[in-house]
Amino acid sequence: MSHTIVIFGASGDLTSRKLIPALYLLHKKDRLPDNLRVVGAARTAFEHETWRTELGTSTANFVGEAFDQETWQTFAEHLFYQPVDIKQPDDYTRLKAFLETLEAQQPTTRIYYLSTSPKLYADAVQQLGQAGLADESHGDRRIVVEKPFGTDLATARQLNAALHQVFAERQVYRIDHYLGKETVQNMLVLRFANSIFEPIWNRNYIDHVQITVAEEVTVGRRGGYYDTSGVLRDMFQNHLLQLMMITAMEAPSRFDADLVRDEKVKVLRAVRSLAGADFARDTVRGQYAGYLQEAGVPPDSQTATFAAIKLHVDNWRWQGVPFYLRSGKGMSCRTTQIVIQFREPPLTLFGDKARKHMDANRLVIQVQPAEGIQLHFQTKVPDAGMRVRMTDLDFSFREAFSGAIPDAYQRLLLDAVKGDASLFARSDEVELAWSIIDPIIAAWRSPAAPELQVYEQDMWGPDGTSDWMADQGRQWFDVCPILE
Ligand code: BG6
Repeated sequence: MSHTIVIFGASGDLTSRKLIPALYLLHKKDRLPDNLRVVGAARTAFEHETWRTELGTSTANFVGEAFDQETWQTFAEHLFYQPVDIKQPDDYTRLKAFLETLEAQQPTTRIYYLSTSPKLYADAVQQLGQAGLADESHGDRRIVVEKPFGTDLATARQLNAALHQVFAERQVYRIDHYLGKETVQNMLVLRFANSIFEPIWNRNYIDHVQITVAEEVTVGRRGGYYDTSGVLRDMFQNHLLQLMMITAMEAPSRFDADLVRDEKVKVLRAVRSLAGADFARDTVRGQYAGYLQEAGVPPDSQTATFAAIKLHVDNWRWQGVPFYLRSGKGMSCRTTQIVIQFREPPLTLFGDKARKHMDANRLVIQVQPAEGIQLHFQTKVPDAGMRVRMTDLDFSFREAFSGAIPDAYQRLLLDAVKGDASLFARSDEVELAWSIIDPIIAAWRSPAAPELQVYEQDMWGPDGTSDWMADQGRQWFDVCPILE
């Protein structure tokens, strides 16, 4: 079976920064099917050769030492370009003719990758349908949709409806690049390929869970986009909720796309809705100092660049175990970590008995930048009576395995080519995620909003976030990447 990937938005940043480098590296590792072509489609009028040359330069930049001119040449032979204006029906007719010539009547799996401005997604889908490009009589047709998937529940539903007019749900692959990260997938392996964690992965042993995605970067040149989005749409509706689902889900009976996603969806269904005073009590919002001076940001913007949210998952496993989700830009370092904070031992036998709280066990899953796992536990300090101290056991991917850790897009593109949708979001998942985030966005625009706290950059968000945790008898795990 031959394969064609058609990238709409081929002249954009994502194509040169992520998609082509990922495909090039897969080609270099010999992971792509033999007969695979990549067709770039965008408004700019390129010749095949010009596009190849441009991508050669950008790919060399993005993959660094992994670039090899000879391998690039063999890969570039598979790259083609066809000018397409998303709104022009004639362009789709020309695209269809071009693809048919390229594929020489061979049965071919086609993957349409939407990497254009999200405003054009519905148009592109409709045009693909009208031009007969979704027809499966000569091979499978799949469509990959980049984030953001809508800007709220209503627009996500509209987009799902537009997709389902042309494609069946099994043909739709909604990207959340966090699911392509190795360490996120390892969370599934940690939980479901080992038997020692599962018995303690519940309310009997776990006090709470912290999921932090901290970014050192500020909004930079993306101020215009970011100000309409804010941290809840940009990071929570997708990445943070995905991490929460993977942490909280039950084991599927098989590693099958629908069974995995059924279990994830059940987590979102069990999330307790926030109402009334909950918004002020269970959410914190912040904006980094200097945000109002960023290009494209209105001087009186109330957009949050930081949020911390406490959610409850009302099921047997998690009843009474809060999930604290937080993310922000302009923070002290770049780290994505999931902290499973276990309960304290029932009795203080050792150490400072006057101390009310002793450090309880903690499992830290470091998603990025240094991928690994750390288990924290109490140990006796030698030659110091029965003094105890928190120590740790480390596991680092880089030490345990050789070879570079692949970028998320490599895994996701390969899965889309193979037809495995396990690591892509399903329509119900995306809509449920919006139904959790929308009420918070609405409350933050109402008198029920918590105060917008300005925080200094290079900190862990607003000062008030630590007090907020302390008032609940808890503490953030504010440690920059635990592993080197
Ligand atoms: C994107 C957001 O989805 O994820 C960005 O739009 C954010 O604002 C990025 O910086 C973070 O991704 P990563 O892989 O760098 O953690």
